[in-house]
Amino acid sequence: MQIKDKSFVVTGGASGLGLASAKALLEQGGKVVLLDLPGSAGADVAAELGANARFAPADVTDPAAVAAALDVAEELGEFRGVVHCAGRGGTMRIVDKAGNPGSLEFFEMVVKVNLVGSFNVLSQAAARLAKQEPLDSERGVVVLTSSAAGYEGRIGQTPYASSKAGIIGMTLVAARDLASKGVRVCTIAPGVMDTPILANVPEQARATLADPIPHPRRLGRPEEFGMLARQIVENPYLNGEVIRLDGALRMTPRD
Ligand SMILES: NC(=O)c1ccc[n+]([C@@H]2O[C@H](COP(=O)([O-])OP(=O)(O)OC[C@H]3O[C@@H](n4cnc5c(N)ncnc54)[C@H](O)[C@@H]3O)[C@@H](O)[C@H]2O)c1
Repeated sequence: MQIKDKSFVVTGGASGLGLASAKALLEQGGKVVLLDLPGSAGADVAAELGANARFAPADVTDPAAVAAALDVAEELGEFRGVVHCAGRGGTMRIVDKAGNPGSLEFFEMVVKVNLVGSFNVLSQAAARLAKQEPLDSERGVVVLTSSAAGYEGRIGQTPYASSKAGIIGMTLVAARDLASKGVRVCTIAPGVMDTPILANVPEQARATLADPIPHPRRLGRPEEFGMLARQIVENPYLNGEVIRLDGALRMTPRD
């Protein structure tokens, strides 16, 4: 999909991997709507990014708010895709220190934001993209975000790992399901990326996080995620695939 002069929604666009993806699309002449929580820095970030960026406050689990953000993208330009990065962490032990079962409410909340939110964004975006005229034989593209934890979750990551594994499972079937509409779906599964999530982690702890990464032995850079998101949008033969972006990291049971 050509990026220049086309409009995209980037969820979680106020920070980290979403912000890097928005910048990558803008650099190619695209227009972006940063969908992020009302309390996020989205308005200020959009203002800094310039005239081709807008902020749409929304929770990805809220159908009406996501629809309103898609409306903004259609007003901004010819809507052709989504890079969906919004998500949250979530750790808890299955059986806590007192011997009680982990909180079902917490598990549901993490799965709701990460997995149900992904389907909400995917389905609503795909319905709009399916109405577009084909452009070089495709109508649009959706990039989802999983995690290495979707394959090898660490101890304590059952809510997060389950939600991210669900996104891996969704990818191929979504590409198959939307093939007749000319909409591609791919997922990026990052390893450990240097985003604001890690801003307060001391240098020594960052080195520990980087140590098991075979090559390059460092945290991933947000712009490396942005490069891949851009390539998925641009490359019409990438479809139905989950791409790990992790320097060959395979996570161990504990940090
Ligand atoms: N940073 C990493 O090491 C890493 C590794 C693997 C996967 N990921 C995934 O990448 C994605 C982006 O992570 P990041 O590191 O850029 O984090 P980040 O915290 O910098 O950005 C996440 C953004 O999502 C927004 N958000 C959270 N919940 C939302 C909701 N319900 N509705 C709308 N927006 C919401 C936040 O406000 C924030 O701006 C997440 O899905 C995360 O699980 C990150």
